[in-house]
Amino acid sequence: MRIAMIGTGYVGLVSGVCFSDFGHEIVCVDKLTAKVETLRAGGVPIYEPGLDEMLRRNVEAGRLSFTTDLAEAVKGAQAVFIAVGTPTRRGDGHADLTYVYAAARELADVIDPGTVVVTKSTVPVGTNREVARVIAERLAETGRDCPFEVASNPEFLREGAAIEDFMRPDRVVCGVDSEAAEQVMRDIYRPLSLREAPVMITSLESAEIIKYAANAFLATKITFINEIADLCEKVGGDVKAVAKGIGMDGRIGPKFLHAGPGYGGSCFPKDTSALARIGQDHSVPMRIVETVIDVNDRRKRRMVDKVLDLLGGKANGKKIAVLGVTFKPETDDMRDSPSLTIVPALVGGGAQVAVTDPEGRKEGEALLPGVTWEADAYAAAEGADAVLLLTEWNQFRALDLKRLKAGMRGDGFADLRNVYDPADVTEAGFRYVSIGRAD
Ligand code: UGA
Repeated sequence: MRIAMIGTGYVGLVSGVCFSDFGHEIVCVDKLTAKVETLRAGGVPIYEPGLDEMLRRNVEAGRLSFTTDLAEAVKGAQAVFIAVGTPTRRGDGHADLTYVYAAARELADVIDPGTVVVTKSTVPVGTNREVARVIAERLAETGRDCPFEVASNPEFLREGAAIEDFMRPDRVVCGVDSEAAEQVMRDIYRPLSLREAPVMITSLESAEIIKYAANAFLATKITFINEIADLCEKVGGDVKAVAKGIGMDGRIGPKFLHAGPGYGGSCFPKDTSALARIGQDHSVPMRIVETVIDVNDRRKRRMVDKVLDLLGGKANGKKIAVLGVTFKPETDDMRDSPSLTIVPALVGGGAQVAVTDPEGRKEGEALLPGVTWEADAYAAAEGADAVLLLTEWNQFRALDLKRLKAGMRGDGFADLRNVYDPADVTEAGFRYVSIGRAD
């Protein structure tokens, strides 16, 4: 099947590459010439394990190509996916749909009759019907006779595990309002049925809500365990044991119960904020989601106090080694990372901050002014008063703690991801604080 993918951001690129690996013929289109040139040369603009190898394999097989020319990309395509960005609109928290509707309007001039226009971007309820309206309006303006279908196909992949999530999803959700669209969506995902991934066919609106509800639920789960962690710290419990104990209940499940410095990334903050706005617009306030957003924002700021406590109350004149600044491991993404709240507060308080991150420097240099960048944890900790573990990269999971400590002038260790066993860190001579554990 021939498919066009509009937008080579995270979701568009991963989806396009994976669809080509299914055996479909994929043309990815983007307006950014430099990006398209990079991709054509086999380069991958984002860090995602396994993506570069899969991209090159499918380009070589002649199933995957890149262009800036929309008309060329959609010619002969049975499905055209819109996977452009839907950032949070400045000022009101809504998802900004400018790029989605602009793509829909441009498509009206170039799609073949019978094409299914599929939205993969995360979009508020009603957007797919609006996409259909925008295309129909433009067709009427130009007098072009071109029947088409729409479908909603939200994506649930996680950065850092994107290929695995795409190839072995828990489910695929397709919102449609015609049998023709349903058939095309089933054909696209047929290769996954060999892996027994269920394809759920639903209405356009349900598919749109599923995406927001899933992300908001996961954000709520994290925020819940973070609050339980706070309680553990006060009363002497261990949040890891509590998470394990509740997670063994099949109704709760063990995943997304790791307490930490608060969720970040390109999805949870944006989608919780958009869902809260959607609720307000329809007079159905999403009170739980609104609280989750507020609790999470405050949490990131409170993490600064945790570090300051370790430093005797003030950052001024102290040196802090920060291990990890991306919002999670296996990505170079810094969007809404807790580090963007915590590191500037420490720098602003007069601390000298040395940062190390396996992939974060490229984006992080501009976002974290006033810090120095080091090659590894040991170099960052040289002469430091405290180590602050912010992102649980594998590189930071098995540090030689005695070696780390030997290079430092102080003995603080704040582990905001609960990577270490408190006994081991204390044994290496550190004063250790973590999350939700009476250390
Ligand atoms: C998230 C969802 O997990 C995906 O299913 C969804 O497709 C994606 O958003 C999206 O909407 O595109 P992602 O943002 O890549 O994926 O990353 P997650 O692994 O979900 O982590 C998000 C944040 O939650 C990170 O800051 C992470 O450190 C934090 N987190 C996650 C915790 O603090 N504790 C946990 O137990 C899990």
